[in-house]
Amino acid sequence: MSKPYVYVTRKLPEHTLTKLADIAEIGMWDSEDTAVPRDVLIKEARRADGLLVMLSDKLDDEILRSPSLKIAANLAVGYDNMDTAAAERHGVVITNTPDVLTDTTADLVFALILSSARRVVEAAQYVKNGDWKSWSPLLLAGADVHRKTIGIFGMGRIGEAVARRAKGFDMNVLYHNRTRKEITETLVGVRYAALDELLQHSDFVVNLAPLTKETTKMFGKEVFLKMKKSAFFINGGRGGSVDEDALLHALQQKEIAGAGLDVYEVEPIDPNHPLLTMKNVTALPHIGSSTIETRCAMARLAAENIALVLTGKAAKTPILL
Ligand code: DGY
Repeated sequence: MSKPYVYVTRKLPEHTLTKLADIAEIGMWDSEDTAVPRDVLIKEARRADGLLVMLSDKLDDEILRSPSLKIAANLAVGYDNMDTAAAERHGVVITNTPDVLTDTTADLVFALILSSARRVVEAAQYVKNGDWKSWSPLLLAGADVHRKTIGIFGMGRIGEAVARRAKGFDMNVLYHNRTRKEITETLVGVRYAALDELLQHSDFVVNLAPLTKETTKMFGKEVFLKMKKSAFFINGGRGGSVDEDALLHALQQKEIAGAGLDVYEVEPIDPNHPLLTMKNVTALPHIGSSTIETRCAMARLAAENIALVLTGKAAKTPILL
């Protein structure tokens, strides 16, 4: 009997796929840096039993209705790139990569908080540009992070990991979430706040919510106006949750002090996007979970999910439809 066929939409380290290779024939898009063209993905999906896809691949009805497709494993914890209703209609299992990326992503969110407040990127560029002429008392003076208030919007696993880091900085941690997390409140020492209270009191407003109908463009004009003028907006969730015109306006009008962004409405962000001209914007290319260890763990987990489903077992981390 021939092995099932799995298509992987980006070049991944071979060692992360060895177990999958035992049970399946693997086809792979031969590039680390460029996304598989849509027509190639459609063609490959038509003959595939499983797909291992990236968050930059749009998995809609056209892909998910492929006749032999049984599983699509996303190399990300977020899965707003997938049409979950279409997956359900066509009986395709979809999986994500929770847990293995939690701490790595929380580290990066904290790096964004520190970089934004302490102007790290701007300061490093200042030295490299040869602009440093003398020590001076207020040279590139930023804002303190320790003992400030952080407001986390979206208290899932990553939110909790960010909260734990914040506690290490003696920060006061507020959070807002669809549901209250009483256990986290007790274990980590965080306090639930209504959204307005969180916005009004936080020195760092951190978005970690998944992109849903409810969160789409929810960080808009009204939200930025409610924040302190000295506060920073940090986005480690999804760019679609932000109205970027409103964010730009808030930064230009000094309604907020700065922003640290890892995600954007459109990715990659246009290099000429006006947000990138702002000195008080720290902009990263969606690298929240990008360490060698974690990206390999994510690839192994995605591959394991596919192997399980293609051998008639339950996936380890299915998205509950
Ligand atoms: C995810 O897994 O959803 C993250 O955004 C990746 O960095």
